[in-house]
Amino acid sequence: MITKDISLEDCILDLIDNSIDAARVASRGDISNLNDYFIELNINPESFSISDNCGGISLHNAIDYAFYFGRRKDAPKDVNFSIGLYGIGMKRAIFKLGRKIEISSYTNEHKFIVPIDVDQWLISDKWDFELDPLENDKPKGTYINVKSLRDDVSKEFTDPVFINSLFEIIGRDYASFLSRGLNIKINDKLVNGYNYAVMENSDFAPSLISYTDDGVNVEIRAGIAALPDDESDKPQKYQDVKNYGWFVLCNDRVVLAADKSIKTIWGRDSFPVWHPQYNGFIGMINFRSEDSSLLPWDTTKRNINLSSSVYKRSIQRMAELTRPWIDFSRKKKDAGYTPPISQNSYSSLVEKIDTNKTYKAALLIPDISKTPNLISIQFRKSDKDVNNVKLALGNARMSNREVGEKVFDYYKMNEVD
Ligand SMILES: Nc1ncnc2c1ncn2[C@@H]1O[C@H](COP(=O)(O)OP(=O)(O)OP(=O)(O)O)[C@@H](O)[C@H]1O
Ligand SMILES: [Mg+2]
Repeated sequence: MITKDISLEDCILDLIDNSIDAARVASRGDISNLNDYFIELNINPESFSISDNCGGISLHNAIDYAFYFGRRKDAPKDVNFSIGLYGIGMKRAIFKLGRKIEISSYTNEHKFIVPIDVDQWLISDKWDFELDPLENDKPKGTYINVKSLRDDVSKEFTDPVFINSLFEIIGRDYASFLSRGLNIKINDKLVNGYNYAVMENSDFAPSLISYTDDGVNVEIRAGIAALPDDESDKPQKYQDVKNYGWFVLCNDRVVLAADKSIKTIWGRDSFPVWHPQYNGFIGMINFRSEDSSLLPWDTTKRNINLSSSVYKRSIQRMAELTRPWIDFSRKKKDAGYTPPISQNSYSSLVEKIDTNKTYKAALLIPDISKTPNLISIQFRKSDKDVNNVKLALGNARMSNREVGEKVFDYYKMNEVD
């Protein structure tokens, strides 16, 4: 039953979460540099495996906690800022995947394997897991192998679309860990972190605000990735458009991705529902706490606990931060033109906070009412004539558009002004 409420993708993310928590313990809570850590997934229609070099499961932890269903009351809270808290993720994931499971752990002190034959285990009345010592050596880490995959899982694993979407989801949801050097591979191919690039120039700049609420540090970043329908700007790739909206993170892990629904701000109270005219906006709200039970997430790590007061109070701030973009895109639509952007330079919303930089509390967005209402003029002339005008203007290689503008300016200066 426990495997029913979660998707296959989210189960796989649960296993990645555990490796990241182990890396956090191995590096004593400092995850600013994760270059040395590897998480490798091998996925094919016959088997699934995930291995990491993040230190392994200690024997004591394996016997007393790791294989329990649910978190024991006496479980030590030694993982600060951890992703794991419910004590269910790993078990749910392996049972969702298949029927023959092996979990091996290599730590500095111990080496052991936990083989689970699910069919046998289900008919036993003890429901214990056996733990056998291992003789061979491997880098310190955890190795999970699942065979006899469930039919629907095996079917998904034959589908290249599933594997590609896994690359995308992992690149998007673990961007902040990937940007700190964590290496995640699927079938020997490195996953690239999504960049969350937003414009940073004299017209547009991202904002960052942070505050503490009931033991939770809340950091909100927002920026504009691109202007909708603007040819001169970064092209609107489907990949990017998919990633507009609000991202909600808990301890750096994405819980809601590119949200365009009432779960964040869209259509809530007096705020407008999402519309493609708001494309380009990326907001990111990260709730961080040493005690991960204070964070507003549910056990799947894919949904927000909407009744959390910390979350409820943050909605107001998210709305405030989005408002200038809503106003801008409405004015832009009414005016029927896009103001020119002075230059295209980008920064990344997942970048670490640069202490030498001053961050803005509000999005910088040009005031469209102050920009003159621009219209375009189009006309056709023979190429010979146009080339002669270019020569007369002193640059045979100027663009046709520029010829038009120069000729217009010349007429206006001499005959109008
Ligand atoms: N890759 C790993 N490396 C080290 N320890 C691990 C690894 N995977 C699991 N563990 C240990 O097993 C425990 C149980 O994992 P599980 O995912 O079931 O629960 P959790 O992470 O504590 O909570 P949640 O249900 O929120 O994920 C973890 O707390 C951790 O101690
Ligand atoms: Mg877990």
